[in-house]
Amino acid sequence: MDARIVLLPGDGIGPEIVAQAERVLQVIAERHGHHFQLSSHPIGGCAIDEFGDPLPESTLDACRESAAILLGAVGGPKWDDPHAKTRPEVGLLKIRKELGLFANLRPINPHPALLDSSPLKRHIIEGTDILFVRELTGGIYFGDSGVHENGDGKSAFNTMTYSQEEVKRVVRVAATAALKRRGKLTSVDKANVLEVSRLWRHTAEQIVKSEFPTLEYEVVLVDAMAMHLISRPTDFDVVVTGNMFGDILTDEASMLPGSLGLLPSASVGESGPGLYEPIHGSAPDIAGKGVANPLATILATAMLLRHSLHLEAEAVAIETAVSQVLNDGHRTADIAQSGETAIGTVAMGDLVLSALAS
Ligand code: IPM
Ligand code: MN
Repeated sequence: MDARIVLLPGDGIGPEIVAQAERVLQVIAERHGHHFQLSSHPIGGCAIDEFGDPLPESTLDACRESAAILLGAVGGPKWDDPHAKTRPEVGLLKIRKELGLFANLRPINPHPALLDSSPLKRHIIEGTDILFVRELTGGIYFGDSGVHENGDGKSAFNTMTYSQEEVKRVVRVAATAALKRRGKLTSVDKANVLEVSRLWRHTAEQIVKSEFPTLEYEVVLVDAMAMHLISRPTDFDVVVTGNMFGDILTDEASMLPGSLGLLPSASVGESGPGLYEPIHGSAPDIAGKGVANPLATILATAMLLRHSLHLEAEAVAIETAVSQVLNDGHRTADIAQSGETAIGTVAMGDLVLSALAS
């Protein structure tokens, strides 16, 4: 296969972890006889520094012409000034919107070798296998917003809007995934309070009842879901929800496998390239120290090969290599238990490469 893959390392630990994923892609290409044309482009804070724009036109053009995109992370304290003209995160939101990446897939499968690195008890998390499908280009992230000057200070507002079409397409992605898994779909909303959630609930139910009648289907309120996720995570298969609820619940769910450093995500649309990234952020506190865990990004590479390039065997090869490294007891600082030696970013990359070669 000949495929163009765009790398967007971004800020903070982004460049360090994407470098390891790039090595993995090169080894996969050599071993399986593919040609991946890789090119790096700026996004986020580094793009603001260079171009004054967190998503330069040249980056967006390169992404549009690619088969898939691998992103590190964006943001950092350097660009946090509330009075700044723009922010790194704007680049990420814009690329999602511009490429129509409305469905964000975030799998949560605690690795058996790491069950004791979770802050939760082993018997609660053992057997957890959840796929979150987070709506990514609508809701409160993209609604009208503004700031008003009142007599006695300012007030600010954001609005949460969903159209039925937006709900339908993301529910279809989630329901289709559920059919290929354990056949259960949970839709999460706040329909006891929000009008937009009542429309979401009604629309989701219509789609499931008419197009996916064999699914086991339930609705759960978002506050209750926050609780169920840590009290009975094994009860869930596919969970579909809106943009902000999905953002919050997936960070919470990341504690089930023990570390944000292990979780990949895929953002996909109706057609065109998908965007693959770790779900963690740019971790400015450890950037440049060579200690970040590259496994989430390496696992995002596996998702990229599977979903955008349809290279299932290659994706499985990467996942198996990562699993072997963890089974062999190798740990970066974020997943090392007290008494265990922590290895650095490049050493972890080296181990995945040698597991791939074995
Ligand atoms: C995520 C991140 C982003 C989001 C930020 C960086 C804009 O937290 O991908 O979950 O809120 O979507
Ligand atoms: Mn988030």
